[in-house]
Amino acid sequence: MSLPKMFLEELRSRVPLSDIIGKRMKLTRAGREYKGCCPFHKEKTPSFTVNDAKGFYHCFGCGAHGDAVGFLMDHDNLGFMQAVEQLASLAGMQVPKPTKEEEQKFKRQMSLYDLMEAANKYYERQLWDKKNKNILEYLLARGLSSEIIKTFRLGFAPDDGGLKQYLEKAGYKIESMLEAGLFKESQRKKNDIYPFFRGRVMFPVQDFQGRIVAFGGRVLPERFGGPPEKSAPKYINSPETVIFHKGRMLYGLSRARKVIGDGETVVVVEGYMDVIALAQAGFRAAVAPLGTALTETQVEELWKTMPEGKRDPVLCFDGDTAGQRAAARALERILPILKPDYSVKFAFLPPEHDPDSLVKAEGVPAMQKVLDNAIGLFDMMWMEEAKDRNLTQPETKAGFRAALEKRARQIADMTVQEFFIHEINQKVNDVFLNSRAKRNYAGNSNRFQPRGGQGGYRKGFGDKGAHTPFLNARKINPVKTSKLLPEKALIAAIINYPELFDEFAEPFGMVRVPNSDYDGLRQALIRFLTDRHHLPENDQIPLDDQAVKQHLIDLGYGKVLDALFDKSLYVYGSFARPGQPLDIVRQGWRETYRYGLENVRWRETQ
Ligand code: UTP
Ligand code: MN
Repeated sequence: MSLPKMFLEELRSRVPLSDIIGKRMKLTRAGREYKGCCPFHKEKTPSFTVNDAKGFYHCFGCGAHGDAVGFLMDHDNLGFMQAVEQLASLAGMQVPKPTKEEEQKFKRQMSLYDLMEAANKYYERQLWDKKNKNILEYLLARGLSSEIIKTFRLGFAPDDGGLKQYLEKAGYKIESMLEAGLFKESQRKKNDIYPFFRGRVMFPVQDFQGRIVAFGGRVLPERFGGPPEKSAPKYINSPETVIFHKGRMLYGLSRARKVIGDGETVVVVEGYMDVIALAQAGFRAAVAPLGTALTETQVEELWKTMPEGKRDPVLCFDGDTAGQRAAARALERILPILKPDYSVKFAFLPPEHDPDSLVKAEGVPAMQKVLDNAIGLFDMMWMEEAKDRNLTQPETKAGFRAALEKRARQIADMTVQEFFIHEINQKVNDVFLNSRAKRNYAGNSNRFQPRGGQGGYRKGFGDKGAHTPFLNARKINPVKTSKLLPEKALIAAIINYPELFDEFAEPFGMVRVPNSDYDGLRQALIRFLTDRHHLPENDQIPLDDQAVKQHLIDLGYGKVLDALFDKSLYVYGSFARPGQPLDIVRQGWRETYRYGLENVRWRETQ
C-alpha cells in the first residue's frame, strides 16, 4: 500500500538494514558494506551485500535487490503491510493510516496478483483433469515431461464459462477480471463478459519475484481439437495491465535468476516453448521476450541479474534471413546502452530450427554448440556492416570504416566508444592496410572463432548444430543440389585467397569432389600451392589470385575455371567472393567445410 514517502524514509533510516538482515543470517563487514552468502539462492562464496547508507541490499549472484521492507517480505514471507508493521515496531513508530484512495489502489493491485494466481490454479486443474487429457497429450507429444509442465505451471483454458464461475465463487469482482485482462466486455450484450483465452494451452508469465502477472495462450493443433490451421493466431498474450508491462519483463527470468549466479549461461530465445524445452534440457537460464522484439529495458533487466565480469547473455537467432534481420536490429538497440563490462553475444541456429526443435531433434550437444559458437558484439557489428559491401576498392574500404565508426559513435558510454573506435582502426589496418606479404601465411587474426580456434574443423567432424550465417541469405541448400556448390565455393575461396591455403591445406586435401574436372582442378591447385614451399625464393613472391588462375589455365583448366566461377557460385557462397575481410572468408570456409562433413559429403570418399 502506498504509505507516505516520508514515513517510509524515516522508517528505513531508524533501523540499520544490517541489523535486520544480520539477525537472520551471517554478515561480515567489508569496508562500508556488509557481505554474506545470499539467502535467496544457493552459493558458497558471498556475493550478497548490504549497504546501510543506501538502505539497500543487493546480490551480485542472483540479482536479488531491495530495501528493509522488501527483505522482510521475501525472506520472512510477509505481506507488505506486515513487513512495514514489523519494522515500525522495531523503530518505535506508528504506521500512519493510509487514505481511503491509497488503500483502495493497493488492494486493487494486490488482488490482481491474487486473481492471476487463482486463475492459473484453475487453468492448471483443467489441464490435469481427465476430461482434457488430449491437451496434456499434446504437451507430452511435444516432448515436455509431466515434471516440467508442473514446474512451469502450464495450464489449459477451456472455451466455457468455468473460469468466471470459479473466480466469482472465490469472491473476485467482474471489474478485477476485466482489469487483469482475463475477460473482455461483450459488444453484443450489455454487461456481459467473455474470457480472453478460449481453448488455449496456458503459459503463466511471472514477474521478477515470481508472481503471475500475465498469460500467453497457444492454440491447439487441429488434430488435438484446435481450430483449422492458421485460422487463429498461434499465440495471444495478456494485454498490458497495471501489473504487466510487456517491454520490461522476460519470460522465465524469475526462475533463471536463481541459477545465474551458479555460472549458468544466460540465453535469450524467442518463445515460451524454447524457454521450457531448454530448461528441460538443462539450460536453466533461458529467457524470452513476450511476443515482441527484445527491448533495451529487457537487456538491462537481464544484466542486473548477472554477476560482474560475466554480463554477456547469449542472444539466439534463427539462422534464416529473418533471424539475421532480428540480430541486426538487436545490435542497433544494444550499441547505445553498452557500458564497460556489459555486453551481449550473438548465436545463430541452423536455419530450420528453433531451440526447442533443435534440442528435440539433435540433442543437447547441438544446442551447446550453437551457444559455444556465439560471436561477440564487435564481431557481429563488423560482420553486419561487411555483409553487403564490395570491399575490393580503396574508397569502398574507406566507406566501410566510416560506417563502422558511425555505428561506434552510437555508444553512449565514452570509454566503450573509445575502445570500439580503436578496435575498428586496428582491425581495418590488419585486414586491409597491412602488406599482403605480411598477411600471407600469418593465420593470426582469428577473432570470429571465439573457441576452438584453428583446427576447429576437425572437431566438427560429423557433429551437428553448426550453421552458416556467413553464407548468402538466399537459401540454396547444398545438400539437395547436385551442383557441388559447397565444393565449388571451397575451391574458389582458395583460388581467390591463396594466402589462406596453408591454414586450410589439411581439410582441403580431404574435399574429394565427385566430378573429375573439379577434383583435378583441386589437386592441381594443391600441388601448385604446396610446391611453392619447396622453392624457398617463391615464398618471397606475394601470391595473388591472378597468378594462381594463370597457372591453372596454363595447365589446361581454363574451361573448368569458367564453370567453377559461374553466376551461382557467389549466390551460394558469398564468403568466397573477392574483396572480403579475411576473417569472413575463413569463417565461411570453415562452416561450409563443416557443413559438408555433417552431411557426409566427403567422409565416404576418403
Ligand atoms: P513462434 O511461433 O516461433 O513460437 O513464436 P514457438 O515458441 O516456436 O511456438 P511453438 O513451438 O510452435 O509452440 C515465438 C514467440 O512469439 C510470440 C510468442 O511469445 C511465441 O512464444 N508469438 C508468436 C505471439 O505472440 N503471437 C503469435 O501469433 C506467434
Ligand atoms: Mn517452436
